[in-house]
Formats: sequence, structure tokens, C-alpha cells
Amino acid sequence: MIINGEAMVTPAVLEAMAGTKDERLREVTAALVRHLHAFIREVRPSEEEWEFGVDFLGRIGQANSPTHNEGVLFSDAVGVSTLVCLLNNGADGATETAAALLGPFWRDNSPAVEDGGSIVRGPTPGPKLFANCQVLSGGKPVAGARVDVWHSSPEGVYENQDPDMADMNLRGRFTTDAEGRFRFTSVKPAGYPVPTDGPTGDLLRAQGRHPFRPAHLHFLAYKPGLKTLITQVFVDDDEHLESDVVFGVTQALVGGYVRGEGPAPDGSEGEWWSLDYTFHMEPGDSRLPVPPIQ
Ligand code: BEZ
Ligand code: FE
Repeated sequence: MIINGEAMVTPAVLEAMAGTKDERLREVTAALVRHLHAFIREVRPSEEEWEFGVDFLGRIGQANSPTHNEGVLFSDAVGVSTLVCLLNNGADGATETAAALLGPFWRDNSPAVEDGGSIVRGPTPGPKLFANCQVLSGGKPVAGARVDVWHSSPEGVYENQDPDMADMNLRGRFTTDAEGRFRFTSVKPAGYPVPTDGPTGDLLRAQGRHPFRPAHLHFLAYKPGLKTLITQVFVDDDEHLESDVVFGVTQALVGGYVRGEGPAPDGSEGEWWSLDYTFHMEPGDSRLPVPPIQ
């Protein structure tokens, strides 16, 4: 088709793509073109602005590395990750625990830890945390599920962001017992700023937004036959609960972190906290996500 004016561009592109054999790919790419062209008609970018936008997308790709995923970060910061997550998972907790975004920091190879073990693998100052968790499905215990736990330090950094932290610090893989329970010892996570040294940080600054996530623990529960549960349990007194930079907080995921009194369960002195949390899984697809980093 010879293009005779801007109105012909969208139908020409849709026609050119109409022979896409894969039905879902045809649907998705046609919708992408329709919405992208509508966006351009609404915004009417100057050529300079369009060059800036294309360069911005390029910089997102260039900022990716084996230990950093800027693409996931950008998707998170504009709310798309949470939207995809809530469209695909029950958000009200009726039959399954509400899901929350995976984030850019999950690693698929965290070491197995025995029930009740510690995931602190090197010096990590901060209050201790004792977590008692249970996984149920339809009210019954889920035995033998794999549960990955990962979280930031009391200083608000993940081990992959800090060369001084032990490899795999504050990460562990548990297997639920016959009652669906798993327990672990760690340190209480702190809230943290998402990385702001890339294009996503430029965007947040331009929008006058703070970069903080409220403190949380990440969980990924996996068992064949059950829908993989990816979620986070937030610390209830965090100042950024209502303004999470990546829109990940839903009410059901605010945990009851209780400050302990007297000696800790392991006999140690000093500030300590406990968390009891029950996860609910439902039958379904037990897919594991692609790890955002190695
Ligand atoms: C996280 O919770 O680990 C996370 C989520 C989105 C952006 C950055 C970090
Ligand atoms: Fe996190």
C-alpha cells in the first residue's frame, strides 16, 4: 500500500501484519500497534521528543546486566508489573494469597536451608527475625512445597547490590513439612530505594517521585499441580506502605510483625521480631518465572 497521508499508516501496518501465523502473536501485535498509534496521535511528539523516547528505551536495554534488570524495574515503576500480576492472580485473597510482583532481584538458585535454619550467611547487623509460616491449599497443608525466601538487609540492600555482603545472604530455599510449615531465622528487612542510577531513576526524578519500597519479605511457593505463588509480606509500620514506588502493597499482604520481649527464641539478647504468616495456594499452573538476574 502506498501511504497517502497519516490516516493510512495504521491500517497499512495492521494489514502488513495480518498474516502472522501465531494467533496470539497476531492479536497482541495488532493491539500494540493500534494503541501505540493512538498514543502518538494523542501526544503528537515532536521528532526530537520521539528520538528522546527511543533513546530512553535503548538505555533501558543497555542498563541490563547479569546482576541488574532495568527492564523489570521500569515495568515496576510505571505500575505495569503490578497490573499484570493483579490481572492474573486473585488479589482479594479469597482462595489464594494475594500475589505481588516478583521484582528484579529473585535468583533461581538460592541454597536449600533446613527447617528453622538461618538465611544470614555473613555479618549482617540488625534486629533478628523469626518467621513461622504455613502453606495451605483448600484449607489443607501443602507438604513438600519449595518456598524461596529473599529480602533486603536491615540497611535496605540486596546481597547482589553489595559486593561486601556474602553471596546469597538473606536468600534461602525451604521445603514445607507434613503440616505445610516452614520456619526461618533472619534479620528484619528495611525499606529501600529502588536503583536510581539508570533511566528509570531519571524518570522518577523528573516526576518528583521518591524511590522507596516499604520493607518486605519475598516468597515464591512452588509445587507441581498448584499455581505458583509469588508474593511479598510487608512490615506493618513502614512509612512508605501507602506510597510504594512500584505499587506492590495490597492490604492482605501487610504482615503482623511483632516485637519480641525478653531473650529471643534462639537465646540471644537484643532486639528481635517475629512473623506468623499463612499462605494459601490454589490448584493450577506450577510455572517458574524466568529469573530477572543470575
Ligand atoms: C523488590 O521488591 O525487590 C523490587 C521490586 C521492584 C523494583 C525494585 C525492587
Ligand atoms: Fe524487594
